[in-house]
Amino acid sequence: MSSGRTIVVGITGGIAAYKAVNIVRAFVLRGDSVHVVATTAALRFVGKPTLEAISRNPVHTDLYEGVAEVRHVAIGQSADLIVVAPATAHTIAKLACGLADDLLGNTILASTAPLVIAPAMHTEMWNNAATRANVQTLRERGVVVVGPGTGRLTGADSGAGRMEEPDTIVAAALAALAASDLAASDLAASDLAASDLAASDTAAAGVAGNLGDLRGKRIVISAGGTREPLDPVRFLGNRSSGKQGVALAEAAVARGASVVLVAANLEVPAPEQVDLRPVGTAAELDRAMSIAAVDADVVIMAAAVADYRPAEVRPEKIKKDDTGDTLMLTLVRNPDILAGLAAAKKPGQVVIGFAAETESDPDRLLTLGREKVARKGCDYLVLNRVGWTEGFASERNEVRVLDGRGDIVIEASGSKLSVAERILDLLR
Ligand code: PMT
Repeated sequence: MSSGRTIVVGITGGIAAYKAVNIVRAFVLRGDSVHVVATTAALRFVGKPTLEAISRNPVHTDLYEGVAEVRHVAIGQSADLIVVAPATAHTIAKLACGLADDLLGNTILASTAPLVIAPAMHTEMWNNAATRANVQTLRERGVVVVGPGTGRLTGADSGAGRMEEPDTIVAAALAALAASDLAASDLAASDLAASDLAASDTAAAGVAGNLGDLRGKRIVISAGGTREPLDPVRFLGNRSSGKQGVALAEAAVARGASVVLVAANLEVPAPEQVDLRPVGTAAELDRAMSIAAVDADVVIMAAAVADYRPAEVRPEKIKKDDTGDTLMLTLVRNPDILAGLAAAKKPGQVVIGFAAETESDPDRLLTLGREKVARKGCDYLVLNRVGWTEGFASERNEVRVLDGRGDIVIEASGSKLSVAERILDLLR
């Protein structure tokens, strides 16, 4: 992507506003033309002279200044990219509602440029159902949401809600700009691409802001549940439908990745664009994953794998008359596929596992996740609670993603597709 673009940096009223100065500076140093639109609250945290000196442009706040030049829409119309950092809970709510009661709101509504926001707030505000719903709405419209991270907040407290570091925000913003440039050139080059996009629920469901950012990546995903045969008609299995794995595959394809989907007994259709490799048992899944992982950049184990299989598979149907009132089965351990893939990881490859746990206490659930990521040795672990109505087969999911050290790097809830998008954001 060439430098020298027109970037609008929106700054809203949170303490992290002081860090926005570094974001402005990073764009200026790239040679971009940077225009700061600050809310009045933002200017209580960081001074206008600082922002004007660093951006080398006047800083605008007032909706009723520059009326003759129709400034309330002109700034947005001229933008190649808009970055709002920090984005407070209040601003996120306004954006979700499309409110335009200040210059920043007008600028954003009047723009067709990619929009990147970096939320910053206290953990309780970030976890609030209203904020969650508003963020989800913005994601579904293609807004790229960077962070928030987890760590020390303004006071003595720590948790999720800390604004991502400026260099992370700038990198994500430039990726969004590059993806938007790519999408524009793809669309211009091919009417077919446009009609494919229009026809694709996946694209409409929130990848527009991320389009093309996984281009060139080879991703192997396992989905569904393994079945371990007891005899020609029965098996030991689990309730995985494959929805979460398939959502990952759909989202990855829509973002430009080439995807191998190792599919264990899916109850939902696989996307047409994947290289589909159907499997039945854990042993088959193990073989298929080992082969596919050899030249993969990313390996994701979303499948629910049987930990045990029957020691013996009977060649004929087991008869009640032969077994009596009770039937004893001897089971033997299956290999831990994820641990094997993590151990055999080639340099630069990213291995992501899942953890399905029924623990209802969030802290104990987190402890189980941390123990599991350490045991499996993967780069990330997607921790989800499962039960009769949660996780398995449902349309929604709620996850915490842990890195290899057990730190929470993402918290996400919503449709399985939106959760998939958040997980894939790790790979940009
Ligand atoms: O398919 P859905 O209906 O949409 O449901 C989604 C899901 C709940 C199945 C999915 O989100 C999920 O949690 N998948 C992992 C299920 C699982 O097997 O979790 P686990 O905690 O038992 O295993 C941990 C990790 O090790 C998983 O990545 C699993 O794929 C892997 N594993 C497990 C056992 C084994 N023998 N080999 C493995 O590689």
